[in-house]
Amino acid sequence: MHDTLLILDFGSQYTQLIARKIRESGVYSEIHPFNYPIEKIKEMHPKAIILSGSPFSIGHPNAPKPDPDIWELKIPILGICYGMQLVAEHFGAQVAPSEKREYGKAKILIKAEDPIFENVQNNSQVWMSHADKVQTLSPCLKILAATENSDHAAFRHETQPIYALQFHPEVHHSLCGKQILANFLFNIAHCHPDWSPGSFVQESIAQIRKLVGSDRVILGLSGGVDSSVAAALLHQAIGKQLIPIFVDTGLMRYDEAHRVRDMFRAYPSLDIDFVDASTMFLSSLDGISDPEQKRKIIGRTFIEVFEKEAAKYPDARYLAQGTLYPDVIESVSFAGPSATIKSHHNVGGLPKKMKLKLIEPLRELFKDEVRKVGVTLNLPEELVYRHPFPGPGLAVRIIGAVDKDKVSLLQKVDEIFISELWKWNLYHETWQAFAVLLPIQSVGVMGDERSYDQVCALRAVNSVDGMTAEVTEFPFDFLQHVSNRICNEVKGISRVVYDITSKPPATIEWE
Ligand code: XMP
Repeated sequence: MHDTLLILDFGSQYTQLIARKIRESGVYSEIHPFNYPIEKIKEMHPKAIILSGSPFSIGHPNAPKPDPDIWELKIPILGICYGMQLVAEHFGAQVAPSEKREYGKAKILIKAEDPIFENVQNNSQVWMSHADKVQTLSPCLKILAATENSDHAAFRHETQPIYALQFHPEVHHSLCGKQILANFLFNIAHCHPDWSPGSFVQESIAQIRKLVGSDRVILGLSGGVDSSVAAALLHQAIGKQLIPIFVDTGLMRYDEAHRVRDMFRAYPSLDIDFVDASTMFLSSLDGISDPEQKRKIIGRTFIEVFEKEAAKYPDARYLAQGTLYPDVIESVSFAGPSATIKSHHNVGGLPKKMKLKLIEPLRELFKDEVRKVGVTLNLPEELVYRHPFPGPGLAVRIIGAVDKDKVSLLQKVDEIFISELWKWNLYHETWQAFAVLLPIQSVGVMGDERSYDQVCALRAVNSVDGMTAEVTEFPFDFLQHVSNRICNEVKGISRVVYDITSKPPATIEWE
């Protein structure tokens, strides 16, 4: 239906960024592995193909290569970084390792007028990250731009719409990158900009109605962005046929159940089935202090509670999940399988067990697009831009054994921290912020009296996807103010520390 741009992934860390930038320009893009077969490519009818970067050198014996027939499709192709080397190699140019790795900012000097550089300023800054470079071009290729260190920063085929860039236009340090990508999309591939979160909403409502018919759909509503946007979208599509189930594990943020109800104020007819299972979760965690064991118990208990509640709706045929595009992309990893560091609370086995068909209305979207869809669906900002929260909840933020009193203590501390972030206009300055309750007591003075109460830690990090993270550098007076409020208002806490460890080496959560 839409003009589609195909991105072949050769393993670059920036591949998803290319897809997002293309979509921001209004063109639907899909990522597939580098060796995606030509038959499947033909079925897609892409308007153009982008070849991504890669950690490999083209001369490496295991260097990833696309299906050679892509060159016969006669559609526009843009090679970026390693993709540039593929273009060079295919057309007989010479690629060689360069003496020094080029990494960082550079200025492009435009050497020839071309539609790919329309409205791009000469000397504009671009982002480089490569070790190999194109040494000599072949006669069918034409140089378009250079930088101080690369004679061939951009080139094209003399007659075909095939382009190659040594730099990364998708990275925001490439100041003209968005314009160059747009030029490729619109001047060269002649795509129509017909993809937007708004069009997505309209089309998925129609698709959901067609798929579901008059059946009922169950959804696990967690209060996070993904399941909430999925709920709003499904409710728009099928109204009362949607059954959102919210399981209160007793390990959630302060006053969470009420807050979730309030966040759906634009949807008064959304009838959320709230299940208070806090007693069950807390008793199954009684005396358990091993982090992995806590996670497993919570995962199991969640499935048990959810299944039991869902069984009250025997006529339901579907289970909706807020799966996003990054979970769906077949990832190309040359670094080898990464070890499981923590078992994440995963309810992926549910639909099979419950004999329900799966419906994943957000599986084409990136997180930032889900947020835009949420805004389009009139969900409030405090929900759409909510920090991530782990499935096992406060259980992994209470070090050691968990009980009701500790949960309540931590909820109060966390609530002070988060509400102050909003008041100081700092909530959006951090990717995720929370408090941790430590199993340590320390000596303090309260008035004239000696106290011996617990220590809590505050943690706040900046991250893109949670894989790596940097500590958020809050103003010191803010941290001091929060610490004062916590010690003054939360009986049982007498000391506050701020965690300044990045990830790696530490993970974001403490357990
Ligand atoms: P870590 O602690 O692994 O966390 O650095 C990375 C991100 O994942 C969140 N997290 C979880 N999310 N279930 C979830 O849904 C989990 O079991 C879980 N454990 C950690 C964490 O809050 C951070 O955003």
